[in-house]
Amino acid sequence: MSIQSLIIDCDPGVDDAVALFLAFAAPELEVLAVTTVGGNVPAALTQRNARIVRQIAGREDVPVFGGAERPLKRPPAGAGEFHGAEGLGDLAPFEPTAGVGEGAAAEAIVDRVMSRPQGSVAVAVLGPMTNLALAMQREGRLAERLGPVVVMGGARSEGGNITASAEFNIWADPDAAAAVFASGCRVVAFGLDATHQVRATEDRIAAVEAIDSAAARATAAMLRFSQRVEREIVGWDSAPLHDPCPIAWLIRPDLFETRACRIAVETGSDLTRGHTAVEFRVEPETARHRWATAANAQGVFDLIVDKLKGAA
Ligand code: RIB
Ligand code: CA
Repeated sequence: MSIQSLIIDCDPGVDDAVALFLAFAAPELEVLAVTTVGGNVPAALTQRNARIVRQIAGREDVPVFGGAERPLKRPPAGAGEFHGAEGLGDLAPFEPTAGVGEGAAAEAIVDRVMSRPQGSVAVAVLGPMTNLALAMQREGRLAERLGPVVVMGGARSEGGNITASAEFNIWADPDAAAAVFASGCRVVAFGLDATHQVRATEDRIAAVEAIDSAAARATAAMLRFSQRVEREIVGWDSAPLHDPCPIAWLIRPDLFETRACRIAVETGSDLTRGHTAVEFRVEPETARHRWATAANAQGVFDLIVDKLKGAA
């Protein structure tokens, strides 16, 4: 089994939490660090929530670093209605035992990527892309040194979820996203086109609930919370599971279909800010990124159940 070294940048957030539980339980991934950013809830809560998930998963060996409290240029965003005021749905928050790492997220990303072999460290960005953009500002050689950059963000055929034009992570910090996509790194982007196919149906949630472990119980609680909120706010019967998709791809890329593309981000217009212009019909040399067009939803949930059972 090959092991992928990985930094997870996130804004937990219930689906971020499920992504962390999956990554922490996957022997295929060496999680070097978790970095957090303000997004679904403010930065102080996303940092605490990452440490809560880490403790429940029994992975205090992984350092957590707090990051950007606000986007590069835009005011702080929020999505508390989909994640609960504290950010972890119904889960009662607590002050985790293990603390936060010294130094900012951007510094932690640069240190870990630049001190390891070329292309050996992947980064998963599951929230606004501010920390990675700041890391690239800090170290100009970072983009070329990075391994796969897997991103939950954007929308093409699906339209947006925060506005008609944009998905939340890209909308929250369009300037950071534009900088990362233009940086020269290679991104595999899991936008709403793919993540809306990965829905936490009743049978899939029940399969997680059948696992006897603290991580599985917390995962199931997050999925139940999302199911309730989705029904109340959106009117859909089952909630899309966004953030575990990039993590699942790192473990089982065969669960997704992707296409080579060019990705640019609207940053000037307030009307269409954060729109991801995903172009497939471009010259191969300009198609540096890949866009997920399809997902094997049952395969993703089977993977989550398999890894949580293995870690139980
Ligand atoms: O649009 C979905 C994304 O926004 C997910 O990352 C979710 O956690 C929120 O941050
Ligand atoms: Ca997120």
